[in-house]
Amino acid sequence: MKASNFSCLVTAGPTREYLDPVRFFSNASSGKMGYALASAAAARRWSVNLVSGPVCLAPPSGVSLHRVVTAADMESTCRQLFPSCDLLIMCAAVADYRPVSTERRKIKKKQESLEVHLEATRDILKALASEKRHQLCVGFAAETDHVDAHARKKLRDKNLDWIVANDVSRAGVGMEADDNCVRLFSRTGESTSFGPAPKSDVAEFILRSILGPK
Ligand code: C5P
Repeated sequence: MKASNFSCLVTAGPTREYLDPVRFFSNASSGKMGYALASAAAARRWSVNLVSGPVCLAPPSGVSLHRVVTAADMESTCRQLFPSCDLLIMCAAVADYRPVSTERRKIKKKQESLEVHLEATRDILKALASEKRHQLCVGFAAETDHVDAHARKKLRDKNLDWIVANDVSRAGVGMEADDNCVRLFSRTGESTSFGPAPKSDVAEFILRSILGPK
């Protein structure tokens, strides 16, 4: 699939779920893997929309960048872009929980302890993949244990075509690192491992495995 009218939607980075104007729940995602995927997709002359949470990375050239902050922002932006994309790669580390309410003013430090009520965010990937028509849907699974079993379960539960699993308990690869080590599972049951390798090489491996050589 090499046509320049092939359209790819990639998400990257963390989301932030605010407790008050200056405090938020987030995670250690650097966005490097998602940006490498967007860059590799643009190098294939695809039309690329990159929906990114807050990261410190320069946008790859040839990519339309959509900056978002919260999981809800990411969901609404992806909802607009999904119908016209051919390939969704949901690489973002979307927050699974957010505070039930966000204080308008900074919370004062008066008590010994603070209880925060969290509610689940909506699973963007699961929602979009349940509505897919022609789109290929690819998810990521960052796991610390039983990586293969968890990844295969997510592939099924989220109605995905492929899932990229990585063991985030391994030193030197994964969330904030420049390198990654992944195992790619297909809907039809095959799996292939790749890495440790620079994230740009991992991105090439993923696109090649899903859609063939450049
Ligand atoms: O279930 P888990 O959060 O481990 O699944 C990870 C995959 O689901 C990633 O592809 C991530 O981008 C996506 N996800 C999502 N919306 C959420 C949580 C995760 O799209 N609220």
